[in-house]
Amino acid sequence: MHDATIERAAGALREADRIAALTGAGMSAESGIPTFRGAGGLWRQFRPEELATPEAFARDPSVVWDWYRWRRRLIAQAEPNDGHRVLARFETRFPEFTLVTQNVDGLHRRAGSAAIIELHGNIWRARCTVERRRVVDQAGDPPAPEASDPPRCACGALLRPDVVWFGEMLDPVDVARATAALRRCAVLLVVGTSALVFPAAGFPLIAAEAGALVVEINTEETALTARADVVLRGPAAGVLPALERAL
Ligand code: OAD
Repeated sequence: MHDATIERAAGALREADRIAALTGAGMSAESGIPTFRGAGGLWRQFRPEELATPEAFARDPSVVWDWYRWRRRLIAQAEPNDGHRVLARFETRFPEFTLVTQNVDGLHRRAGSAAIIELHGNIWRARCTVERRRVVDQAGDPPAPEASDPPRCACGALLRPDVVWFGEMLDPVDVARATAALRRCAVLLVVGTSALVFPAAGFPLIAAEAGALVVEINTEETALTARADVVLRGPAAGVLPALERAL
C-alpha cells in the first residue's frame, strides 16, 4: 500500500461531509471469523443450498439450526478488531456516516457503531416463521440453550435464524435506506467483500454513478477492483487504522 494512495483516500475523506461504508466478511476475518469464498471460506467447506436456503430449512430445520449455532459459537468467541473500531469512530467524526454491512455477526455493533444497516440480517436474532415476530439474543452472548430442537416460538411454529438466505429478498426498507445513502455520499469505503452477491455487489456502482469516490479495502483483487477509484490492498484491521491516522 502506497503512501500516495492512502493520501488520496484520506484527502477525499477530509473534504467530504457524507461518507458511506459497505462491509463484507473480510471485515471480520481478523477477528477470527471465516469468510465465505476465500481460502478457508465457509462455502469451500459447506454447500449453501444445504444450509442457507428456505428449501434447506423446510427439508431439515435441525441441520440448519445446528450450523447457525456453530457459527454463533465462533462469533461469540470473537472480538471486534481495530477496523471495526475505526468505522465506529467515523460515525461520530463525520457529519453523515452510513454503515451498510452484509455481515450477520453483530461485530460492528459490539465495536460501538450504532446506526447500521444489516442487509443480510443478524445471526443473534431468530424470527417466527408464522407470526414473523423477532426473538433477540444478546449480541455476543453464547446462545441460550434452546428448549426444543429446532427452536419454536411461543405460538408453536418454528423459529428460523433472522438472516437472509439465498433466493430471498432483502428488506426493501434497508435497501431503500442504503441506496439513498449511496447516492448522497462523497466517498464510499468498500471493505472486505468479494462484490459477487447482489444486490450489495451493485451498491458501489450506484455510488460511483452518483459521483462518489469509491475506495476498496481488500487483501485481494475482487470483482469491484477495476471499477474502484482507489484500491488499498491489505487487511481491514491494518488499512482502516492507517487511513484514520492519515486524516
Ligand atoms: P466473501 O467471502 O465472498 O468475500 C470476502 C472478501 O474479503 C474477499 O474479497 C477477500 O479477499 C476479502 N478479505 C479476506 N480477508 C480480509 C481482510 N483481513 N481484510 C480485508 N479483506 C479481506 O464475503 P462477502 O463478500 O461478505 O450472504 O459475501 C457476501 C455474502 O455472501 C455474505 O453476506 C453471505 C455470503 O453467502 C448471506 O449469507 C446471504
